[in-house]
Amino acid sequence: MNFLKPKSIIIKGTGSYVPEKIVTNDDIAKVVDTSDEWIFERSGIRRRHFSVNESASDMAVKSAKEALESAGVSPQDIDLVIVTTVTPDMMFPSTACLLQAKLGIRNNIPCFDLEAACTGFVYGMEVATSMMQSGKYKNALVVSTERLNPLLNWEDRTTCFLFGDGSGAAVLSYGEEEGVGIIGNVLGADGSNTAVLKLPAGGSLLPTSAQTVADKQHFIQMDGKEIFKNAVRIMQEKALDVLDMCDVRPEDISLLIPHQANIRIIETVAKRIKIPREKVYVNIEEYGNTSSASIPIALNEALKEGRIKSGDYILLVAFGAGLTWGATLIKWH
Ligand code: UT7
Repeated sequence: MNFLKPKSIIIKGTGSYVPEKIVTNDDIAKVVDTSDEWIFERSGIRRRHFSVNESASDMAVKSAKEALESAGVSPQDIDLVIVTTVTPDMMFPSTACLLQAKLGIRNNIPCFDLEAACTGFVYGMEVATSMMQSGKYKNALVVSTERLNPLLNWEDRTTCFLFGDGSGAAVLSYGEEEGVGIIGNVLGADGSNTAVLKLPAGGSLLPTSAQTVADKQHFIQMDGKEIFKNAVRIMQEKALDVLDMCDVRPEDISLLIPHQANIRIIETVAKRIKIPREKVYVNIEEYGNTSSASIPIALNEALKEGRIKSGDYILLVAFGAGLTWGATLIKWH
């Protein structure tokens, strides 16, 4: 069978969703020894949204519906579903299969989860794009969805304030002209540095037991300083790599959408790659770090705010546990 290769692959629609419940830094200061000032100054975060009873797939449904609607693509026309998450509804089946059923997507297409921590969306875009380039898949739904609040250790003031819940989605489709859409992507990983950010128990290494619960092994453990150092170095390097690969200069970038982990990481990276602050999208103040959902939530907001126009170069760059990293360059259609 011959498949017609696409001229380009574009982001045809986007969507996002965050739960209603807002937790402020002052709320957190009632639980651990911290303050609004300290948290804001060190991280740029003021608030985060927490899911009370919505699972990762529940939130995914909401962001995906908005993405499908804005793309003008019906669930029946989706050929591929990729969900990126560190907080699947359950170990199996995949959250992608749960989402497929909830959205009424037809059943003869591939649906799977991809776990690359905070870099999930950038990984998901590369996997979807590569599969679509075969000509076999015309419309892909990539959804990043995270319910991190149950993983927070409320006795650890160094991590509990950082994270929030939410979901972001994109519909990728074939473009009608060449040279637009997703034009470059670099991905990488360093598995020798897994200890700096992890959730140790609940998998096959440390199955859930009374002991793992008592030892608080089901919560996020992080060496913040080590992550910070690596994130700054690697994000700037990979952002420049993808620009170089596509022969685009930093001054050509209209908007940098970095993973929202810490305002100081974001500002340092932007400065080092010489992208001025007004061309950097930041919403960490409102949501904290929503892991892989952070970039698609920001992308959807930037589009709605009119900050992205046809012909613009948009640069996405992410970094996360694994360690994993990636950067994507888009020329908006
Ligand atoms: O998606 C990737 C996920 N993770 C990240 O990106 C996290 C990257 N790392 C960070 O964002 C930063 O390392 C943090 C925001 C987590 C911490 O900022 P920092 O500037 O690296 O602070 P620190 O760990 O060096 O701590 C400075 C001081 C320490 O006190 P001493 O030892 O100097 O007396 C901490 O005990 O601040 C103290 N501290 C706090 N004080 C008030 C740590 N957490 C808190 C807190 N409130 N919540």
